[in-house]
Amino acid sequence: MDTDARQPIMVDSGKRGRVAKIPRHIAIIMDGNGRWARQRGLDRAEGHRAGVKALKPIVKECAALGVEVLTVYAFSTENWSRPQIEVNALWNLLVEFLRLETPELKAERVRIQTIGNVGALPARAQKAIETAKRDTAEQTRMVLNLALNYGGRDELVRAVNRWLDEYRPVSPERYVTASAIAEHLDTAGLPDPDLLIRSSGELRISNFLLWQLAYAEIYVTNTLWPDFNPMELHKAIRAYQERDRRFGGLRE
Ligand code: IPE
Ligand code: IPE
Ligand code: MG
Repeated sequence: MDTDARQPIMVDSGKRGRVAKIPRHIAIIMDGNGRWARQRGLDRAEGHRAGVKALKPIVKECAALGVEVLTVYAFSTENWSRPQIEVNALWNLLVEFLRLETPELKAERVRIQTIGNVGALPARAQKAIETAKRDTAEQTRMVLNLALNYGGRDELVRAVNRWLDEYRPVSPERYVTASAIAEHLDTAGLPDPDLLIRSSGELRISNFLLWQLAYAEIYVTNTLWPDFNPMELHKAIRAYQERDRRFGGLRE
């Protein structure tokens, strides 16, 4: 796919031809399914169904552009407070998505991973996740990282506790460090997101990747998630390519 809307997005860096900085890691807060459904007089679950459908073309486009990691916020630690019927519908959609799409994701050489407290999900969801992870474990083109029962605060607490479990018995005098925390987060081994996209216009991060987003560029679109498509993705990446990332230093 190649849209012109005022250049960059080139990629294909065979010996650094055509380059233009594509984010290594894109994180997306897929928000707005409920509003999309309401606008159409549909049930919220139908909005979620449409939202799941919107994901596949974005995964494929990210892989095609050379993005290394795509992390998508699918269910937060706070989303349990929604009506049980909606929560159930979400887990059913996840199971269906994994069952139907894993073969194609594998063919696209995408590896499925998760972050969040997956051990607290319904058994059927855990099983589907395990199968999808196992089936795609060898794939190396891109990681599709699903944030499920994910909360940034919960992740940090679990990370620090994991670190304490490891070190307290052997060296009780040791203090935690930034790299020790990073290495015990669910995202250990992944680069931090370069670009955070949030659909449907809310200007907040809703407990997503609190540690990892420290220097992410933020792009918010009013487009509701079910309407988010590869063109919208390109718009976000173009906006990113125009940003001046200083990391607290000075412009080059
Ligand atoms: C995002 O859409 C999907 C999940 C949080 C699971 P919402 O369901 O939050 O949609 P809105 O914000 O109500 O429109
Ligand atoms: C964030 O969206 C979580 C997901 C997209 C999974 P929410 O709709 O839950 O966030 P708030 O409530 O608007 O902050
Ligand atoms: Mg929402």
